[in-house]
Amino acid sequence: MPSVIYIHPNGSRQTLDVPAGQSVMQAAVSRGIEEILGECGGNAMCATCHVYVEPDQLDRLPPMGDDEDALLDGAAADRLPNSRLSCQIKVTGELDGLVVRLPDRQV
Ligand code: FES
Repeated sequence: MPSVIYIHPNGSRQTLDVPAGQSVMQAAVSRGIEEILGECGGNAMCATCHVYVEPDQLDRLPPMGDDEDALLDGAAADRLPNSRLSCQIKVTGELDGLVVRLPDRQV
């Protein structure tokens, strides 16, 4: 099963085994990672699932869609070049070992 590494704002790392097909947001919310809210349930409508993908791993992800791009402009924490919405990242075997940093706020 692919694993995803979440880095909390305090620097601590948490590794989750994520069933393929689940999103990075769904895995975090279901395991109680509090820095990801996922208020819209993964429908690209809220931006409360904002994460920072490790820059050297960005090219492993599919390109972002227009909705994601627009929503990230309204994210609570600063948008950076490596910002993504974690509900739009579906975990697959190819993403094993993905590292995402969690922002210090989502609202
Ligand atoms: S959960 Fe709402 S945009 Fe990702």
